[in-house]
Amino acid sequence: MLQVDIQGEKTVRDALTIARIVRVNHAGEFGAIRIYSAQIVVSRWFWPDCVPALSEMLEDERRHCILFRDAMPARKSRPCRVMQFWSYGGWWLGFLTALLGRQGIWACTAAVEAAVHRHLDDQLHFLNARDPELAAIILSIRDEEIAHLRHAEDRLVSRSVAFRVLKAAISMATDCLIWLSTWGDSTRMARALKADSR
Ligand SMILES: [Fe+2]
Ligand SMILES: [Fe+2]
Repeated sequence: MLQVDIQGEKTVRDALTIARIVRVNHAGEFGAIRIYSAQIVVSRWFWPDCVPALSEMLEDERRHCILFRDAMPARKSRPCRVMQFWSYGGWWLGFLTALLGRQGIWACTAAVEAAVHRHLDDQLHFLNARDPELAAIILSIRDEEIAHLRHAEDRLVSRSVAFRVLKAAISMATDCLIWLSTWGDSTRMARALKADSR
């Protein structure tokens, strides 16, 4: 009986973590859409050579966002209720960093993509046996996400202290926006994944 209870509790906990994974990933993709949209608006004026790559990334993020949105109902997950943090915050983050120039754009892209990828491997490890369908979705987008990150990192030339501070600030702003837009679920998800990998 006790065994059944423990097993049942574990199943409920796993289902909650899976719902969080979908919610956090969906929020991340949604934020990326907003950031790249704003960066494209600025780039059309000042840095047109960046537009093709950003447009391609934007299309990828739109597709990823739909994949996670479609995966939600079956996992009793819903988009975050406070997505406006991401919506406005993400747009301004993209807009302001794009005004700084190409290096601002790629620093922001690298920081955002790194935040999205940070938990990807842990998520796969957790989901492989528990939700192979969701694991397959994440696996199917992983190569594109890595390509986004590489594209941005390859274009980052400045190594100055001011630039490193800027990158760290963008990274912090991204984590903060994800935390707010998921109402802390990003931290709870990371904690559950960490506990599982021990
Ligand atoms: Fe994505
Ligand atoms: Fe991406």
